[in-house]
Amino acid sequence: MKYLKFLVTVLTATLILSCGEKPKPAFNPEERVEDILSQMTVEEKVALTHAQSKFSSAGVPRLGIPEVWCTDGPHGIRAEVLWDEWDQAGWTSDSCTAFPALTALAASWDPSLAELYGISIGEEARYRKKDVLLGPGVNIYRTPLNGRNFEYMGEDPYLASAMVVPYVKGVQSNNVAACVKHYALNNQETARFFTDVSVDDRTLYEIYLPAFKAAVQEGGAWAIMGSYNLYKGQWNCHNQYLLNDILKGEWGFDGVVISDWGGVHDTDQAITNGLDMEFGSWTNGLTMGKTNAYDSYFLAQPYLERIRSGKVGTTELDDKARRILRLIFRTSLNPEHKTGKFTSPEHYAAARKIGAEGIVLLKNEGGLLPIKDARKVLVVGENAVKMMTVGGGSSSLKAQHEISPLDGIREALPGVEVVYERGYVGDASGAYNGVTTGQDLSEKRSAGQLIADAVKAAQDADYVIFIGGLNKSDFQDAEGNDRKEYGLPYDQDAVIEALAAANPKLVVVNISGNAVAMPWVDKVPAIVQDWYLGSEAGHSLADVLTGVVNPSGKLPFTFPVALEDGPVKTLAQYPGIPGDRKWESPFSSVPILEEEYTEGIYVGYRWYDAKQVKPLFPFGHGLSYTTFEYGEPSVSKAVTADGKVTVRVPVTNTGAVAGAEVVQVYVSDPEASVDRPVKELKGFCKVWLEPGETKTVSVNLTRESLSFFDAASHSWKAEPGHFDVLVGSSSADIRGSVGFELKE
Ligand code: GLC
Repeated sequence: MKYLKFLVTVLTATLILSCGEKPKPAFNPEERVEDILSQMTVEEKVALTHAQSKFSSAGVPRLGIPEVWCTDGPHGIRAEVLWDEWDQAGWTSDSCTAFPALTALAASWDPSLAELYGISIGEEARYRKKDVLLGPGVNIYRTPLNGRNFEYMGEDPYLASAMVVPYVKGVQSNNVAACVKHYALNNQETARFFTDVSVDDRTLYEIYLPAFKAAVQEGGAWAIMGSYNLYKGQWNCHNQYLLNDILKGEWGFDGVVISDWGGVHDTDQAITNGLDMEFGSWTNGLTMGKTNAYDSYFLAQPYLERIRSGKVGTTELDDKARRILRLIFRTSLNPEHKTGKFTSPEHYAAARKIGAEGIVLLKNEGGLLPIKDARKVLVVGENAVKMMTVGGGSSSLKAQHEISPLDGIREALPGVEVVYERGYVGDASGAYNGVTTGQDLSEKRSAGQLIADAVKAAQDADYVIFIGGLNKSDFQDAEGNDRKEYGLPYDQDAVIEALAAANPKLVVVNISGNAVAMPWVDKVPAIVQDWYLGSEAGHSLADVLTGVVNPSGKLPFTFPVALEDGPVKTLAQYPGIPGDRKWESPFSSVPILEEEYTEGIYVGYRWYDAKQVKPLFPFGHGLSYTTFEYGEPSVSKAVTADGKVTVRVPVTNTGAVAGAEVVQVYVSDPEASVDRPVKELKGFCKVWLEPGETKTVSVNLTRESLSFFDAASHSWKAEPGHFDVLVGSSSADIRGSVGFELKE
């Protein structure tokens, strides 16, 4: 009887369902896009294509389509600003988790951390009801002077590609669009608004585009940000070649192209050359801006007037509106209704882990680190206490907390006397866009007195830890300006030299997003490359210095001994030479600089290898508290028709503590018909090993891994013949090689 009853119930339910409701159709965004588009007026479509406030663009109120809200930046969710202001709005609920700078993420060489990073920052954006995260940045590190290298992922296109894809996927898993920037060839801050870059096609495709292409084709990025500069005489926010021919044409990008703030200059080009959303016109993207200029935006009234007068049609407008509606259905109208999280314990744990895994141990003579048997530790340097989450440009944050290196070290060494000396005065300021650090870094002592006090305190210390480097001030690691010198500012070299003379147990911790000169390198037994690590900076650093975490970071860019050792030498190469064209900006009339990337593909280690110039610390370098031994590498017997080759190499932890090694796989093409770099990174694998443990690492190479870009045929070519695979612990520490023949 019971079964019968159950059966009747089920049948009835089915009947009820079939009588009244239809089963909910699976959500098909494209259908919704076309449905809404067909109901929109021209005015409503035009309104979608430009900003209505500093960081938002209009929706379609009549049809219940929400506005689009953007937020900086790549390292955390920017404080809320007022409708038309750059300064923060003074909310008390928008203090975020500050995650490590992307150089640190790149230095981890751990794609799983990139995904964790993307998920975490995407959750923060979603919680703050933001639809587009204005990041990550993946511009290639071409000169150590670029003020924004700290926001990017280093000098190698393969590493940047491997790390940006999981970051994008992680962000977008929260129904927040990643807006990958700055597309393209924006490799400096000097004259960023008016530099016209010329570069050959092969270099463009082999060096400057791969990370963007990977973000689009493998990461599925929903947004790309056009850059301020020009390429082939066209502004990149409306550049036919980059946006229509390559991004939307060759790569099949179906998302939106968003201008950089103030990057749009011309209505007709903005209509036809691939731009979809105009933001920040008449601003420098940092501080200046005309108030309430939104109706006069290039894609606002001027666009409407052109359509109404019949001067232009609506084909481009429908494509822009379609892409923007697709963005809205992928984000705020996505039926998954993700909620995000904000400043959660998991986010702080992620920040701490990413930071510690990104720290690079550059030198550790005599195993000075990790800190052991210390009774008194002296910490010297402004960067041990200075908040670094405030400043540096649009990536500046209002962090809920920031653990300083000094605080982190003190917390990690209970019972040890940890004393502090300033050592030098750098930048005592602490405010950006209305966010203040609240720190009083004022100092009355002279430079000489500061050094003398530090030297005195060093006398009886078991360890002296100098924590210096760069900071987020103008002309250092900051947006808007490049560095003026390769060396450390504020005469830090003198402080380091004095400390080295005073106490041999000296550790130098360099906090920066760029390489710096180290004239004292032979006098310092231990050197650590630390990065801007955000809220958990002090914990991450202390974890490494005390050995809680065994460092496993590897440099994402080369540290040359001197700037002139690098590939960028002439004014024409950097920052460019004034030509006869002028940029009539709202603020002034300036000559457009003409810049030539004549070094071509020889960027970073590709250059130092070709010129056989020994860098201070090579790309991919990073030590551990343990040691690793590599066995003989091998390649899969069958080099399959599509050129797929599996490289295998056993790696053993030959030391006493567990650790992780990044096995790097470089390809060399000695028989190439064209000039090719000595080697190019085409694979890597991070492997964790217990003491004595051996694992065999395998990395797949594809035909693409073996190819160079042939500009004449506009295609990638892998020429049959002999290839060498070099496996190593850095680009300069090759542990083995194996060759194979690529057949027709
Ligand atoms: C800035 C930056 C860009 C940022 C945007 C909004 O000028 O170049 O990275 O996302 O403007 O702040």
